[in-house]
Amino acid sequence: MSSARPAAQDSPPISFGAGAHFCLGAALAQLEGAVAFPRLLARFPRMAPAGDPVRRPGLLLRGYETLPIRVGVARLKSWLVSVRRRARRREASRR
Ligand code: HEM
Repeated sequence: MSSARPAAQDSPPISFGAGAHFCLGAALAQLEGAVAFPRLLARFPRMAPAGDPVRRPGLLLRGYETLPIRVGVARLKSWLVSVRRRARRREASRR
């Protein structure tokens, strides 16, 4: 017997729950993802998996315990430098 779930393709996604308790923040979370992921990929175009992902145990809150990725050390360093520089500028403009 196959372990695939043939009906899963026809089912609506339940990442944000369903019914009366459907996630109140779903639209915000999706907007954040739509903004963040393209920017992340633009910043680190060579981003790639760096190991096997490990799922969290349990069915209630599903997700990953670890999801290792590689972004490229040189780019990560320059990104951290620019993030710190922007934070310092923001801090200075508040004073
Ligand atoms: C990727 C991000 C998110 C995921 C995967 C997620 C997922 C969920 C799920 C599955 C539920 C239903 C829980 C249940 O049935 O008991 C839920 C409920 C809820 N979520 Fe989210 N959520 C996310 C982001 C957010 C954000 C950003 C907010 C608020 C700004 C938020 C606020 C809420 C609230 C208030 C409920 C309770 C709704 C109710 O019980 O009527 N969530 N969320």
